[in-house]
Amino acid sequence: MGIVNKDNITDVVIESLGQHGEISARDRQIMTGLVKHLHAFVKDVELQHSEFLVACDYLARAGKLCSDNRQEFILLADILGVEVLVDMMTNPVDGDESESTVLGPFYRENPPVLPKGGTTIQMHFDNEETAYYEGYIRDADGKGIAGVTLDVWQDAPNGVYENLDPNQPEYNLRGRFETDETGHYAFTAVRPVPYPIPEDETAGELLRFMGHHPNRPGHMHFIISKDGYRPLISQIYDADSEWLENDSVFAVKESLIGRFKPAPADMGTDLHFEFDFVLKSKAGAQAVAAE
Ligand code: BEZ
Ligand code: FE
Repeated sequence: MGIVNKDNITDVVIESLGQHGEISARDRQIMTGLVKHLHAFVKDVELQHSEFLVACDYLARAGKLCSDNRQEFILLADILGVEVLVDMMTNPVDGDESESTVLGPFYRENPPVLPKGGTTIQMHFDNEETAYYEGYIRDADGKGIAGVTLDVWQDAPNGVYENLDPNQPEYNLRGRFETDETGHYAFTAVRPVPYPIPEDETAGELLRFMGHHPNRPGHMHFIISKDGYRPLISQIYDADSEWLENDSVFAVKESLIGRFKPAPADMGTDLHFEFDFVLKSKAGAQAVAAE
């Protein structure tokens, strides 16, 4: 510890770490980085006390909004591009492996288990475009993986997820599918439309403070999992969607963009979307993370 001044305050706080109780090497690394960057930020913008109090009040209000249905801090991290960066640090991509991206707040566990080729559509909308989604889930050697579980979820043609819309049936546009013995998956759903992330309360305040819009391009969410492979949390994006290059949560990756094509007459849907994924084995994922 020590007597502080503007020049030594950062070093004094860093040197205090662990002085009155043991801390792990990782916790020391995290706290050292946090203190360094926070102090540098305060100095950089010459943060005033009135502004500090506004920030404390803002964080207190964000905390009060958190519930089982809303994790405001993840939403704020999304708007700041932090969750996608943390995901890139956690799941470095190597070779042909499919890229991950943010989970978002709208996943529901235990979606309806549906047969290969089945539909997630439980309710129709006048403006809907139905689509047949299909592709292969492969390993790093290009071999199809049988018995892979795919949880899929998306917004409805009105831009609202089922759990936020009292007019949609429970689990509308959500489903759990499995690949066949060749690693092929298939299901029917709708073309996802762009929608705004929640823009009320503190998330909306942050968007307005940053001069940002709330919109996301049309996307389908996936969680793809099988024992022995790294679970892949990802999204695929409609190449023709608005907001693709201007996503409010910065989650679009080039490799996750695909194109809806008109479906062949015998497919029974308006559109056809083909997309393959490559999973990494758990052993391979650990080796890349350790590099
Ligand atoms: C979503 O895609 O569902 C989402 C992702 C981040 C923040 C809000 C929504
Ligand atoms: Fe989404």
